Amino acid sequence: MMNTAMEIAKENLEHKGFLDIEVDPSLDLVEEINKLKKEKNAILLAHYYQESEIQDVADYIGDSLGLAQKAESTDVDIIVFAGVHFMAETAKMLNPNKKVVLPDLKAGCSLSDSCPAPLFKMFKEKYPDHVVVSYINCTAELKTLTDICCTSSNAEAVVNSIPADKGIIFAPDKNLGGYLQKKIGRDMILWNGSCMVHEIFSNEKITKLMVRHPEAKFIAHPECEDHILEKADFIGSTSQLLKYTKENEATSFIVATEPGIIYQMEKASPDKTFIPAPPSTNCACNECPHMKLNTLEKLYLSLKYELPEVQLEPWVIEQGKVCIDRMLDISRKAGFKM
Ligand code: 13P
Ligand code: SF4
Repeated sequence: MMNTAMEIAKENLEHKGFLDIEVDPSLDLVEEINKLKKEKNAILLAHYYQESEIQDVADYIGDSLGLAQKAESTDVDIIVFAGVHFMAETAKMLNPNKKVVLPDLKAGCSLSDSCPAPLFKMFKEKYPDHVVVSYINCTAELKTLTDICCTSSNAEAVVNSIPADKGIIFAPDKNLGGYLQKKIGRDMILWNGSCMVHEIFSNEKITKLMVRHPEAKFIAHPECEDHILEKADFIGSTSQLLKYTKENEATSFIVATEPGIIYQMEKASPDKTFIPAPPSTNCACNECPHMKLNTLEKLYLSLKYELPEVQLEPWVIEQGKVCIDRMLDISRKAGFKM
């Protein structure tokens, strides 16, 4: 049970927001986070795009599918999600009776933002016989309008599970959808959404890098544009890219996805070289600004005060969960493991 002082602190925190709370700089945050996790029976789930210091303190690091599978199977009281909003919402839908906290509620996703549910609802009405497949990178509300969810790991298996004579609407990522159309030869109606990070890679700079490093394999995430994917030796989700770099005999890789994944690649293959694919501008725009909103300080605060909590309306949980359950079921049958 929370004491009154904690209640007051929580109220203040809700009122002020995390940005105003000062964390004692002398605290060993890793130690504090580990202590709080134990005390509160909490699990810390982190996506590969998180800062390395967050990955190091996580109980599980994974791609969107692995994180959803882990959220489904955990029996803790609190899930702390070091990722973005749609991931924490997915965890909440799978665990309506658990507390799910996201260190910064502003950690959104440009892909998710590119498909507002009310607009999609009108779009969907034009194709009443179509099956709706939505990339998990979408809002909980969009999930209520979706038949089957997918991630970049299992998108092919999900689309292949739909009878060949059925029309498909694929939302919101036109790049992942286009990649699937090409790979499995299935015509789909694509929503015109995209990820700001994966659309920033420079074809010209990548070509130059490939010329300078002819021995390097070029690997890319399917959220990248077609002209980038065409050059790739291997295309896959973050966990599939990581696996490829571990198993492939090449010793250098040019990596076209958010560079947070390179931390695990280097850890797994310390003798190999990983070169982040450069963006077309001179900024660090290949880093996801949403993912990078999470910090060790915010993580500590969210564990300490159990805030900010991801809350969803009961009807959203009930209706939105159906497409996630279908995806997890297809993944289980297709042998996708965490
Ligand atoms: P995966 O985790 O499925 O590789 O997707 C990457 C991504 O962009 C998550 O936001
Ligand atoms: Fe969204 Fe792209 Fe960031 Fe992933 S990398 S959270 S798809 S904006």
